[in-house]
Amino acid sequence: MNITNHSFTDCHALAQALADRITANLRAGISQRGHATLALSGGSTPKLLFKQLSQAALDWSNVTVTLVDERWAPESDERSNARMLRELLLQDNAAQAKFVPLYSEAPTPQDGLAQTRERVAALTLPFDAVVLGMGTDGHTASFFPGGDHLQQALDPKNPERVLTMQAPGAGEARITFSLAVLLQTRALYLHIQSEPKRSLLADARLGLGEAQDYPIRSVLTQAQVPVAVYWCP
Ligand code: 6PG
Repeated sequence: MNITNHSFTDCHALAQALADRITANLRAGISQRGHATLALSGGSTPKLLFKQLSQAALDWSNVTVTLVDERWAPESDERSNARMLRELLLQDNAAQAKFVPLYSEAPTPQDGLAQTRERVAALTLPFDAVVLGMGTDGHTASFFPGGDHLQQALDPKNPERVLTMQAPGAGEARITFSLAVLLQTRALYLHIQSEPKRSLLADARLGLGEAQDYPIRSVLTQAQVPVAVYWCP
């Protein structure tokens, strides 16, 4: 395991520090390759990070942003990760970034899968940075315990970049990048908030009890890319 811990007592300080790291990753991508690609998580944890990142002095017109996973809901729905990303990140300096959404107007993720696959096929891999979150059930991206396509999503040999996912704990149906694609990144961050998540992560690292089956373990135990954990209470 190649995991580093970055713990903060203040979530604003975390957002600033992580935004600075991501900005440096994107800047390096732009200066070395002319373009940078960033994959972000939704949910509630990254809100401060998105606001902070939107202020970064960067040539955002050369940055492509996407989501590691999406709830199958239109942007008019408060649960839409794309909605949050547009409201909090694609503002100010970052308004120039190109956004590649995973959701399309199709009624189900199965119906929309071909279109999403076409969109994400155009993304240049590896990503310059990927930011994962984690749920209190040990999921990350849409790798939910009991998910109908969990095995395929975690299979390093699965050739598909995105998969649909339905799971008892997921709420709505989802679409998610595969683990194999998310690990194709120059920098990987795991951004979590709250004491229960810190202790859950510690259990998952050690494979203790129930935590030995948590999908997040696939990220923690892989040897492909170092994981930088950012935590605040
Ligand atoms: C989503 C996410 C998901 C998220 C975790 C943590 O769409 O739900 O991308 O993987 O990172 O569920 O969510 P919170 O930050 O809301 O706890």
